[in-house]
Amino acid sequence: MSTKQFDVIVIGGGPGGYIAAIRAAQLGLATACIDEWSNAAGGPAPGGTCTNVGCIPSKALLQSSENFEHAAKHFGDHGIGLKDLSIDVKKMLARKDAVVKQNNDGILYLFKKNKVSFFHGRGSFAKAVVGGGWEIAVAGASNETLFAKQVIVATGSSARALPGVPFDEQKILSNDGALRIGEVPRKLGLIGSGVIGLEMGSVWRRLGAEVTVLEALPTFLGAVDETVAKEAWKAFTKQGLKIELGVKVGEIKSTKKGVSVAWTDAKGQAQTLEVDKLIVSIGRVPNTTGLNAEAVGLQLDERGAIVVDADCRTSLPGVWAVGDVVRGPMLAHKAEEEGVAVAERIAGQHGHVDFNLVPWVIYTSPEIAWVGQTEQQLKAAGRAYKAGSFPFMANGRARALGDTTGLVKFLADAASDEILGVHIVGPMASELIAEAVVAMSFRASSEDIARICHAHPSLSEATKEAALAVDKRTLNF
Ligand code: FAD
Ligand code: NAI
Repeated sequence: MSTKQFDVIVIGGGPGGYIAAIRAAQLGLATACIDEWSNAAGGPAPGGTCTNVGCIPSKALLQSSENFEHAAKHFGDHGIGLKDLSIDVKKMLARKDAVVKQNNDGILYLFKKNKVSFFHGRGSFAKAVVGGGWEIAVAGASNETLFAKQVIVATGSSARALPGVPFDEQKILSNDGALRIGEVPRKLGLIGSGVIGLEMGSVWRRLGAEVTVLEALPTFLGAVDETVAKEAWKAFTKQGLKIELGVKVGEIKSTKKGVSVAWTDAKGQAQTLEVDKLIVSIGRVPNTTGLNAEAVGLQLDERGAIVVDADCRTSLPGVWAVGDVVRGPMLAHKAEEEGVAVAERIAGQHGHVDFNLVPWVIYTSPEIAWVGQTEQQLKAAGRAYKAGSFPFMANGRARALGDTTGLVKFLADAASDEILGVHIVGPMASELIAEAVVAMSFRASSEDIARICHAHPSLSEATKEAALAVDKRTLNF
């Protein structure tokens, strides 16, 4: 079998990998992308965790469950009467699967359009070639040997299991099984009140499950601005999400009926949680097994992540790594930005990622979104700052929507007024945060936002008002 020659080989077809491959091809480089994810029929399913068992399916279920909750609890406020409201979980899951497939197919189409050669299978380092470059073996549906001078590793991450408690995806679930629960569980347990815990807990609570989240840390959403975390805590607990902080999880046993979790509460009292299903969402581990990384000397850190510099260069010549498999936040858009920047560097351009301006969004209700520094970070750094916030309660559009929970909060430098952080908890926070990211990318001041005309009535007026609040001159509050 002859070795196929490329300029760039990308291992992994998630948001880091497929975007890197498209950008490399756009820049005129002969590009291959290898991805091993298969759909139920055994066909290729590029898009990685994000498309198959992450961002996309979770947002599909969040939307379905939010619609259900609106119909059940809020349609009446609008004078809309509904009889016999029900949820067909199988149909909801089928819709989610169709959304996933549209995205898989979209990526295959984009590969064709951009002339990226796609290989369905597992990629691994075969050998370094004398004179430079790498032979990469593909095993699976495609069995090939490929060669390129430049390799981008974008192999992503997988759910971390608790020691001695493997996922069976029937009762003890990772994010994968959590997105495939076939009927609303009566009782659902989650370990970890991070992003997955809150998003998946919200889905099944809205559909009627009694949800308990066990979190090891004593603080709720410790990385989030304290004002926002407090608001979110109030909203989630009011909705009926039971969150226990400062717990120590003990033995976990699969029982006839479900799962039994022994745990110790913050006061040291022994407790037991009996649930039908248990989702373990305690973080993710980088995927490097099967790459033959050790044999070729690819340096990994103590977490198993590939060691890279600020430009995503690994310890090996011509080998780069991006996304969840390297340091930094495990977010699809961060992976994409790194993928684009690496492709541009390979093509001799000056790709750039500003890691301080990667926004975060938690797609609960209310949504949580932020960019830049939190108030606690500024305090810890001894930075002089001004703060201003505006509640959605005082926003006309939010009242019309019937969704007035939360606020927008600005943090700006005390002297220069440069925006240092924007934190939102409330309706459409995921969309509103984009204005803050743009403003901060242009190093805007809070006064810049305060002086920009925002459409009325819109949620974005809360952003303008929060910017005005930095100068203590809100108009509507
Ligand atoms: P991945 O998406 O993990 O893709 C890696 C790909 O490489 C996979 O297809 C894998 O099969 C393949 N692969 C691995 N090893 C090999 C090999 N040796 N050969 C060939 N192929 C290989 N992020 C957000 O920004 N927003 C969200 O709303 C969001 N929601 C999420 C919800 C859930 C439930 C989860 C689990 C994650 C969510 N994330 C979200 C995180 C996001 O999914 C990841 O940050 C993102 O997918 C990382 O992209 P990646 O390209 O680095 O890796
Ligand atoms: P996470 O890091 O967000 O949260 C894990 C939580 O589990 C933490 O609060 C941690 O303190 C807790 N924990 C760890 N060990 C524990 C133990 N033994 N007992 C009890 N609690 C324990 O991780 P999660 O939720 O698994 O998500 C993984 C990543 O996926 C996220 O960090 C994020 O990068 C990404 N993601 C992003 C989303 C988004 O952008 N909207 C949505 C979902 C996931």
